Amino acid sequence: MKNPAHALFLLFALPISAGEPITYDNLPLGSESKPLLLSTYMPDPGLDEAYFAHHGKSAKSPKYNPGTGKDIPGEYDPIKGLPASLGVSFGPALSYAFDTVECRIAYAWQGGFLDMYPYWGDPVRGSRQSYDYVPQLVGILFHKANPMSEIFVDGKRLTDLDHPKFVGYNLENGTPAFLFSRGGHEFKLKVTPNTKTPLSFSFTLSSPDKIAITYDTPNGDRTTNTLTRTVTGTALGNFQGFPRDMKIKEASVANGRKLFDGLGCSACHSVDGSLGHGPSLAGLYGSKRPIEGTQELVHADEAYILESIKNPGAKTAKGFPPNYMPPYILKDLEYQSLVLYIKSVAKGQ
Ligand code: HEC
Repeated sequence: MKNPAHALFLLFALPISAGEPITYDNLPLGSESKPLLLSTYMPDPGLDEAYFAHHGKSAKSPKYNPGTGKDIPGEYDPIKGLPASLGVSFGPALSYAFDTVECRIAYAWQGGFLDMYPYWGDPVRGSRQSYDYVPQLVGILFHKANPMSEIFVDGKRLTDLDHPKFVGYNLENGTPAFLFSRGGHEFKLKVTPNTKTPLSFSFTLSSPDKIAITYDTPNGDRTTNTLTRTVTGTALGNFQGFPRDMKIKEASVANGRKLFDGLGCSACHSVDGSLGHGPSLAGLYGSKRPIEGTQELVHADEAYILESIKNPGAKTAKGFPPNYMPPYILKDLEYQSLVLYIKSVAKGQ
């Protein structure tokens, strides 16, 4: 198989379980009861060089020529992402990347999953022209693995134990549990979302041996060979997937909804009143808005909504962090569509 991307396609096409069928155009998302697992190159959201201890530096992927839409024969680029990874989505509450080379959770994020578009590409003459081989993240990154694991096994740091070896995974009630060995021990790692504190995940490590598995300290009770952790994080980055031309030809509520999801607004804003990283936009239009640093209420009219999208730093909605929402540079029809959509959700459509 010359092109590794072809091999990957088969895996992409066989999701373990999915809420809805994955198409070229949607953003795949799992749920807590039906997690979605994709075997894929995962993007690297800025992991420390030292994290990649066992990733071969020579791993390469064919070099892509955007002009012809084909690989350049004989030319190779270093792979931009994490090969041999598994992306798991529990829905907007939690997604994480399990790296089968390091046998670790590489990172975790919220508010979305993956945008496969750069891999699947655009339709061209009955086929598809892809952009590169790595899907892009959608949502808010809140956890990145440190090069040195915080987990200690029998007094030794997990990342100091000899070669990690991925064995496979089981589905336990639909939730993947990863099996691997390291330093002569066998481990099982399972992530289950914690609904009470959404920005957290917990995992369990188990081994048939009588060894202590501890966190942040080398010492522990040798009869405990299970560790459960909840890792809370803060926002480390905001990812909006692959920028694409949504070919908006008219300003409409329907186009606004498409943009709202496609641009990743929905990663931070609900339209049903529930709280996310940003205020819910339900009922916003026409309301009086408290603003940080002033007692004055601002009328949330079209101009206010437009300003909030073009220049979020101008006024910060009370109770929310400043400079958190990225500014969006869009076409006029796109701004107008978003405003129409936000106006429509105020009426509870
Ligand atoms: C990374 C998270 C994030 C993303 C993505 C995001 N926003 Fe925001 N947004 C915020 C936060 C936080 C605030 C409140 C602070 C402020 O006013 O800047 C906000 C404020 C707003 C407001 C004003 C709300 C109010 O109650 O006054 C509007 C309107 C808005 N965003 C629309 C959008 C649209 C449309 C998009 C997509 C094009 C978008 N946002 C993407 C985080 C985000």
